[in-house]
Amino acid sequence: MITLDGNKTAKDIKDELAVEVKEITKAGQRPPHLVAVLVGNNGASVTYVNWKVKDCEEVGYKSTLLKLSDTVSEKELLDEIERLNEDDGVDGFIVQLPLPKHIDEQNVIRAIKPEKDVDGFHPENVGKMALNLPTFLPATPAGIIELLDRYNIETGGKHCVVVGRSHIVGMPISVLMSQNHYPGNCTVTITHSRTRNLEKLLKEADIIIAALGKPDFVTGEMVKKGAVVIDVGISRVPDTTKKSGYRIAGDVHFESVSKKSSFITPVPGGVGPMTRAMLLKNTMLAYKMRTH
Ligand code: GUN
Repeated sequence: MITLDGNKTAKDIKDELAVEVKEITKAGQRPPHLVAVLVGNNGASVTYVNWKVKDCEEVGYKSTLLKLSDTVSEKELLDEIERLNEDDGVDGFIVQLPLPKHIDEQNVIRAIKPEKDVDGFHPENVGKMALNLPTFLPATPAGIIELLDRYNIETGGKHCVVVGRSHIVGMPISVLMSQNHYPGNCTVTITHSRTRNLEKLLKEADIIIAALGKPDFVTGEMVKKGAVVIDVGISRVPDTTKKSGYRIAGDVHFESVSKKSSFITPVPGGVGPMTRAMLLKNTMLAYKMRTH
């Protein structure tokens, strides 16, 4: 059993990007600039955007955290997005999700200029992804693909079962795993809360991608020997033995599944850091598209 080390792989990617940034600044050009827009102060979102800003600093990008009150109107947010769309000093930006209920997420995503949509959420970019045209891939699916690639994991002709159909992970990773090039060429089954025979499907899977947000959902007895298991989940589970009062759990019960799997991602330290690294990669791509 091999643990797919997301921390180490993400560090390798960040080191590669830092070298590129050095070359850019040595040539007298400004570094890439990412803006993260945070609306309100949802605990997980605050943590995520702070990480994104810290990651930028680590590789030498400029970053700006734009904090807006949770009472901001949709119109005010859309005006801010328009300003970022037009700002030549901004290469890419993200609006951290979820947004407060009074704001329509799809309106917000559609307002982002596709060339600056480093989350890859705009319908134009989702369409390009589906057609295998060059674009920004959403960071979590891109991180999974990169991990499979860097560990040379065989995917051709394999049965990949994706659990979860979110727009951020389940849907795009299903598309990517079925594309006709490495690391794709899988036969993909996308499963969700209405799937009837999930356990049977999981048992048949060569590759499992669990992205349903239910802690420890996939257990050892559901997994075929030698399966590749990618855990996208990250939940806080109450745990009185911990100082914080909780532990971090993935969607996969690591202890039992790792006894069966050939490769598995841990939580934390698997897909999470890869997601962060891929946002940086997308930002570099946006920068290059705009300055070349
Ligand atoms: N919320 C959870 N994941 C993401 C992400 O990848 N991008 C944004 N903008 N919000 C998120």
